[in-house]
Amino acid sequence: MSISIPRGTQDILPGEVEKWQLIEAKARELCEKYQYQEIRTPIFEHTDLFSRGVGDSTDIVQKEMYTFEDRGKRSITLRPEGTAAVVRSFVEKKMFGLANQPVKLYYMGPMFRYERPQAGRFRQFVQFGVEALGSNDPAIDAEVISLAMNLYKEMGLKKLKLIINSLGDKESRTAHREALVNHFKPRIGEFCHDCQNRLEKNPLRILDCKQDRDHELMKTAPSILAYLNDYSKAYFEKLQQYLTLLDIPFEVDPNLVRGLDYYNHTAFEIMSNAEGFGAITTLCGGGRYNGLAEEIGGPETPGIGFALSIERFIAALNAEGIKLEINQGIDVFLASLGEDAKDYTVGLLQQLRMAGFSAERDYLDRKIKAQFKAADRLKAKYVVILGDDELKNNKINVKNMASGEQVELDLNTFIKQFQELQA
Ligand code: HAM
Repeated sequence: MSISIPRGTQDILPGEVEKWQLIEAKARELCEKYQYQEIRTPIFEHTDLFSRGVGDSTDIVQKEMYTFEDRGKRSITLRPEGTAAVVRSFVEKKMFGLANQPVKLYYMGPMFRYERPQAGRFRQFVQFGVEALGSNDPAIDAEVISLAMNLYKEMGLKKLKLIINSLGDKESRTAHREALVNHFKPRIGEFCHDCQNRLEKNPLRILDCKQDRDHELMKTAPSILAYLNDYSKAYFEKLQQYLTLLDIPFEVDPNLVRGLDYYNHTAFEIMSNAEGFGAITTLCGGGRYNGLAEEIGGPETPGIGFALSIERFIAALNAEGIKLEINQGIDVFLASLGEDAKDYTVGLLQQLRMAGFSAERDYLDRKIKAQFKAADRLKAKYVVILGDDELKNNKINVKNMASGEQVELDLNTFIKQFQELQA
């Protein structure tokens, strides 16, 4: 019996993987411009990191983690997201003591969530994310949002919608929380079991419930924006001012709460509004998480970041019909005719590659016509043809596949002449 790929995961094959590489390269290029440096943390962490960091009452921690006991009887979890680990590392490696502040980091790698797979939702997916730690300036919130928006735009996406909200500081949230409890408590019996648990633990999570989404009390729930204190209100207004200054259109959505517990002040999501994108339209999510560093044993540190998955990025590109320039062809295919010529191409191929060309040859003993077909399939710009006769006369032929033009070159100085041909 053959073994198939686990549900909710995928193989990214040649032909498709080039799209991933282009997005990854663009993300790295932008991080260089915005001055975010790469951090690589482990794929698994102690389970406590996520229950404390992401939050005990979130769906991620309650239902979606890949948690197991290792042979040393420790509870280990495959990371469901990247922020908690970055903050763990920030604290553990005492990055708060670095001279350069804020500390601006980015990461790219697989995350794992045991969710019900559907279009745009995988059990293993790759996130690109950034985290800026150590600044309380709303300008950095705007910077983080602009990085994400620019990445999408530079890859060609147009149908984007940015929604923002403020979850306020602790004081604002406490006041809002009380209002939520008062709002839902009298009729909590009409809500799902999860929401009933959430009422006392974390009533904000009720607003994020997929099951009770359409309950009338959801629509009339008190808005956090009405409970923001002066500092939180001013912070949110400043962010909006900066986004406007950066020419980034946005909508304020007071119902945006996000699925993780560590947020305060800024919360945002970038959605695709391309037609036919499917039910899950969120491409990117992020926000501010002042207090997370303390939660995992570090000093008080403000932080903000976002994460987006490459899977949904590509789905959005497909939905907008954007074709990335991939498979641009190789520089040269080396065709040979005769045994001696064939042997000679082994070294010649190496020389071409060392000279900087992408080069391929035949490894299946194909006839010359079939070698040309192989060259076509690889979209070779040149086919270099060496026969036993030419080899004897120290000659070699070069065919420009676009123009059909063919020239004979001297074999001894071939590489140099071939380089000149490109100039
Ligand atoms: P999140 O909203 O849980 O936030 O995930 C961020 C993004 O990851 C989503 O917008 C989506 O693009 C992608 N994503 C999440 N789950 C899946 C899935 N099952 N399949 C495919 N893509 C998925 C976080 O993870 C936070 N750590 C973001 C953050 C960083 N906040 C502050 N800093």
